[in-house]
Amino acid sequence: MSDIFKTKPIDVLLRESKGEGGKDKSLRKVLGSFELTMLGIGAIIGTGIFVLTGVAAAKYSGPALVLSFIVAGAACTFAALCYAEFAAMVPVAGSAYTYGYTALGEIWAWIIGWDLILEYTVAIAAVAIGWSGYIVSLLQSAGINLPTALVNPIGVTGGFINLPAIIIIGLISALLIRGVKESAAINNIIVAIKIAVVLLFIAIGAFHIHPSNWSPFLPFGWNGVFQGAAIIFFAYIGFDAVSTAAEEVKNPQKDLPRGIIGSLIVCTILYIVVSGILTGMVPYLKFKNTSAPVAYALQQIGINWGSALVSVGAVCGITSVLLVMTFGQTRVFFAMSRDGLLPKVFGKVHPKFGTPAKSTLMVGAVTALLAGFTPIADVAELTNIGTLAAFIIVSIAVIVLRRKRPDLKRTFRCPWTPVLPALSVVFCLYLIYVLPTVTHIRFVVWLIVGLAVYFLYSKHHSVLTAGR
Ligand code: ALA
Repeated sequence: MSDIFKTKPIDVLLRESKGEGGKDKSLRKVLGSFELTMLGIGAIIGTGIFVLTGVAAAKYSGPALVLSFIVAGAACTFAALCYAEFAAMVPVAGSAYTYGYTALGEIWAWIIGWDLILEYTVAIAAVAIGWSGYIVSLLQSAGINLPTALVNPIGVTGGFINLPAIIIIGLISALLIRGVKESAAINNIIVAIKIAVVLLFIAIGAFHIHPSNWSPFLPFGWNGVFQGAAIIFFAYIGFDAVSTAAEEVKNPQKDLPRGIIGSLIVCTILYIVVSGILTGMVPYLKFKNTSAPVAYALQQIGINWGSALVSVGAVCGITSVLLVMTFGQTRVFFAMSRDGLLPKVFGKVHPKFGTPAKSTLMVGAVTALLAGFTPIADVAELTNIGTLAAFIIVSIAVIVLRRKRPDLKRTFRCPWTPVLPALSVVFCLYLIYVLPTVTHIRFVVWLIVGLAVYFLYSKHHSVLTAGR
């Protein structure tokens, strides 16, 4: 039984990441700190700011949406500093999963890995559905109406299949199989476009604020602020995906902390400004029935060209979220498979492209089925709870490893340890607590299934336990 708490030695991890397991087991090192920051922003700005802000303002936070963004941003900043310490010390694909393996032991690593699988799978499918919604409405405004049966799953207003969602997942998977450098180049362009539209919104919106829209400021009280924070937490998810790219980074000790923290700072500032302007432009209750609040606010003040541009930017933005999330999912699989906890096929690297092609195909197929045939967007909150749980374990792991291995070289140190990681745990626990009960139940069911898989399969195939 003690096997399940075995930890993975850091020197073994570092050797593996250098590719000593053979050519078909190592990934190409092509990313620098600029690409990583762009990768982070690529993963972060998307459905959260372009879609969820409206619901959060109308239902939970009211004009205090800006406070919800500050609370969620604080939780993420604490967690990001913990991630940065680990990412620089253990620059190995697999992110939180790998950190758990070195600091806490195999069973915890498995729980995080299983958790990340949930986070990414649900996020990819839900974000693809959000993408489909934006494309359909953009096409509509250009006079092209797609048949209802092809844009919704069975059970949703005359639907049969969500074809646009399937198509975008297919394209993203193909791009990722083709190569990381190519994908990073396309990501840079997309990210530049989406930052430009967010700045455009800020520049226009700042001159159309009516301070009267900000009162009452707390229509749903502080409770609403925290509930809103737990929902819009989704908007920040993604900086953790930067660390999944560790093995493809040229100088990980320096570049990874820069990429993680840099991308989070840029997005936090943009979010706080955007949410303040948004609720100042339009009375918060008006956001109740729109799934495109940022574009809607510009429409309300009669700037239709701005609204159209924002929609195009949102489509671009959501595309890059998909790109990085799919990337992250396959890299977590890669690490878990290398350790024997998942079947070998997830760790195979394509001989020509240097990417985990088969695993990418599988991720694409599963998420496409989910996005194409189910209303999975309804359960998108599972992404939040999965991510929050991973943040908690990573923060605890920082404290544990400082005690257990004070000798390890840490090129980046999380400041004020153990206070700051402990704050991260408290914030994340509280955000989990205020999420809906049904989300808690679904999450526990997922964990129970995961533990069954671990004890029936993974434990017996673990490379570490076998001592090979
Ligand atoms: N942060 C990502 C988004 O908002 C997941 O789409």
